[in-house]
Amino acid sequence: MIILFLGDVVGRPGREAVAANVPKLRQALAADLVVANGENASGGLGLTPKNARELLDSGVDVLTSGNHIWKHKELLPYIDDEPRLLRPANYPPGAPGRGAGVFTGADGARVAIVNAMGRTYMDDTDCPFRRVDEELAALPDDVVLRVVDFHAEATSEKKALAYHLDGRVSAVLGTHTHVQTNDAQILGNGTAYVTDLGMCGVEDSILGMDPGVIIERFVSGMPKRFTLVKGQGRLQGALLDLDPDSGRAVSIELW
Ligand SMILES: [Fe+2]
Ligand SMILES: [Fe+2]
Repeated sequence: MIILFLGDVVGRPGREAVAANVPKLRQALAADLVVANGENASGGLGLTPKNARELLDSGVDVLTSGNHIWKHKELLPYIDDEPRLLRPANYPPGAPGRGAGVFTGADGARVAIVNAMGRTYMDDTDCPFRRVDEELAALPDDVVLRVVDFHAEATSEKKALAYHLDGRVSAVLGTHTHVQTNDAQILGNGTAYVTDLGMCGVEDSILGMDPGVIIERFVSGMPKRFTLVKGQGRLQGALLDLDPDSGRAVSIELW
């Protein structure tokens, strides 16, 4: 099974890059499933139902998310009714939406996508290690393909979850920093891993945002609203080749 997994989609430039490239890439890469992290798709922070639909209509099969998922109130009723949109599984019990789902690719293979969020330098949430273990335990045994989007800041926490899950999931892919890391690898027991997929947005930026505003925040120590940078977005992510019999990763290639 070939899965194209894209990093955080940032604002309109990110959405436009998805719409312009994903349909073509699906064909060119023979991708059976396309997943994207949509937590920054609306104005750079959060996700509106309109933009979620737009991404799902552009050839993205599943949307994951992260710490900005609750930014737009109108998402709350939508997320309960849209199984293709996931939020971190380790929000406390009772949070709207769901943290995992099972999806069928174009090849007919079923894959579980699980979304979790880190706790180091992030908001307080339940333990991602235990919550992901619980989500995996709740999956049907015959769903051997399992991919985790771990939305986290600290490289150590991301690697720790990957080693914790090595051999039990097909891939652990980091998101949230918007900076792609050059460490794609397959761990000893067959789990593909990369610390961060990067972002779908404007490269000449900080997080897809205007660098001037961010510099000002650092220099002045005063709060200042991030503004989205204008320009042409490009895609970043990883292409996974997963073995549907064993659930192990065959390859991971960064995009
Ligand atoms: Fe993000
Ligand atoms: Fe994030």
